[in-house]
Amino acid sequence: MKHLLLPFLLLASGLSVAQSDIPTPVEQAKAALYGSSNCMGCHGANAMGGLGPPLASNTLESAAFLKIVREGKGMMPATPEADLSDEQVQSIHEELKVAPWIPSQIPIAYKVGQYLSPANTSKVFIGAFGFFFLFAGIGIVHGFRLAGVRHMMPAIRKMGMGKAIGIFFKSLVVDGLLVGSLWQASRHRWFMHALMLYGFLGLLAADILISVYNPQRLQVPLTHPLKLLPLLSGTALMIGVGYVMFRYRSDKYIDNGLTLGRDFLFLNLLFHTVFSGFLVVVLKRMGVQDWVMSIYLYHLAAIFLLVVTGPFTRFSHVYLVPLMAALTRVTEAVTVSGADLGFEREPAPGRHHKSQRIAENVLEQLGPEYDGPARLRYFP
Ligand code: HEC
Repeated sequence: MKHLLLPFLLLASGLSVAQSDIPTPVEQAKAALYGSSNCMGCHGANAMGGLGPPLASNTLESAAFLKIVREGKGMMPATPEADLSDEQVQSIHEELKVAPWIPSQIPIAYKVGQYLSPANTSKVFIGAFGFFFLFAGIGIVHGFRLAGVRHMMPAIRKMGMGKAIGIFFKSLVVDGLLVGSLWQASRHRWFMHALMLYGFLGLLAADILISVYNPQRLQVPLTHPLKLLPLLSGTALMIGVGYVMFRYRSDKYIDNGLTLGRDFLFLNLLFHTVFSGFLVVVLKRMGVQDWVMSIYLYHLAAIFLLVVTGPFTRFSHVYLVPLMAALTRVTEAVTVSGADLGFEREPAPGRHHKSQRIAENVLEQLGPEYDGPARLRYFP
């Protein structure tokens, strides 16, 4: 009989063990709390991290844990008592303390994100901007040289240095910031140009304002000025970029053979910067936290490339064209003031493609006594 009874005994004892494993309804509700909270969105389904750090097997004190939840930390928003009572936070904490530590579950985006602390990110971008300013500076010096500022200096002094500087800065505002020449040439093109220019400046301003007024980059409502500015600027920039891309496809005269590759690199990087920026906002609002970090990395990479390639792509026309236009205005004023420069001035300041005619005219004016080699330079 004994050998027949044994399986039953084992079965019975097994059942009783299983019985004590079945959670009571109260325990069940507790266990489901982390899974149903918004914590999971950022800290991962297994609490092994996502946008935020892993919380499984954490050794935080209850009080410290509650304080973080109530006050938020870094990118983590505060949770008020109305959303999660002290008891519920306590129970989530209990649950997390015993949740198993599974290193293989730590998402790659979190591991990468760890290196991207605000301090590290800003170091990388200080390097990128340093590189940009170095080569942009070289480009600007080159621009001054091409405009013949050194040879014009005696005439400028005769006209008055103060006047020249006044004309220079007025042109930077009127021709550069307001794009006066396009306004006169074509309102349509001015508008499309303005979408890109002011969209870009708006995004730049938004980033500066956010780092001053919301350095932790906490989530703010969509109608908040700090959110509206980048959203509207980004939309304007996106429409402008889309329009220019469309024009490149449809206008067969736009390519003068010199700038196409550099124009396209610039446009594409701008497109990816804004597109990924929008994607980050949308995914965050939708609560798809798993993807936010990856897309944020894509966003940072696009900005990094935009800045680093800037001096060598069409990006440079943002500062070179206003500069050349301003120098042209000064040249104009010098000519009018009586100092003969010996060649016709450029007819339309701010134009990207300088006409062959001006160059030929300059050579003509130089006359037969000039027998050095002549080289036509193009600047964007
Ligand atoms: C929007 C994303 C997000 C949500 C939602 C979120 N967290 Fe966090 N959490 C973070 C981030 C990011 C950090 C890291 C903050 C830092 O150190 O700068 C963090 C840190 C923490 C920490 C500190 C960990 C440590 O070891 O320092 C705790 C504890 C924590 N969160 C608990 C929670 C709980 C509980 C919830 C749900 C009520 C929650 N979090 C919801 C993003 C989030």
